[in-house]
Amino acid sequence: MAVLMEDAIQEHARMSPTIDITLIYGSVREERLCDIVAAWAAAQIETHGGFALDVIDPADAEIAKAIAGDPVARSALLARLDRAQAFVVVTPEYNHSFPAALKALIDAAKAEWQAKPVAFVSYGGASGGIRAVEHLRNVFTELHAVGLRDGVAFANAWNQFDGVGTLRDPAGAVHAFKLMLARLSWWTDALQKGRDAQPYSEAVA
Ligand SMILES: Cc1cc2nc3c(=O)[nH]c(=O)nc-3n(C[C@H](O)[C@H](O)[C@H](O)COP(=O)(O)O)c2cc1C
Repeated sequence: MAVLMEDAIQEHARMSPTIDITLIYGSVREERLCDIVAAWAAAQIETHGGFALDVIDPADAEIAKAIAGDPVARSALLARLDRAQAFVVVTPEYNHSFPAALKALIDAAKAEWQAKPVAFVSYGGASGGIRAVEHLRNVFTELHAVGLRDGVAFANAWNQFDGVGTLRDPAGAVHAFKLMLARLSWWTDALQKGRDAQPYSEAVA
């Protein structure tokens, strides 16, 4: 019976392709709000289903080593980014842009971003971090990635979550996140088919 159940689970997994999605932390500050916002975003992805989630945190010692140029750590980071079919970047806004640690992580790779979709979850004061996202769009365009229009922005984010990271009024953000995931899935499928048909590096004049 247990074997039959296991077979059924494996068959279901084979029939329902998952998207390899990588969630990226934007902040490396101690006591960062990013832990709460990123945990909420990861929970939304897990609840939705259909995604295999990887999480990359520039505060992680191995990621910091990779960014600093350690060859072993760097190739491990590049392998993880290469495996990703889609990205969700969780970023705060610092002085009307995004944190330097996030830029260093983005700059540590190149081809691994190409022809892949990137969605944004931002937070900050009155702006909800959208000025950080606008800067990220420019950066990802330079890297030939596709920044999504649909995202989630938390204005005055510190008031929106309670002490254990639960949203006080979740309906709007949950709906926005679901829409973002739907659009991200569409772009992931379209761009994966495109990359399968012709490697992006071969699209030259
Ligand atoms: C250096 C710095 C600059 C900031 N600049 C802005 C800003 O321009 N706009 C804004 O809405 N919030 C700004 N904030 C507030 C942050 O959005 C808020 O502190 C947020 O919690 C930071 O994310 P973190 O705690 O995950 O690092 C700034 C915070 C810091 C530390």
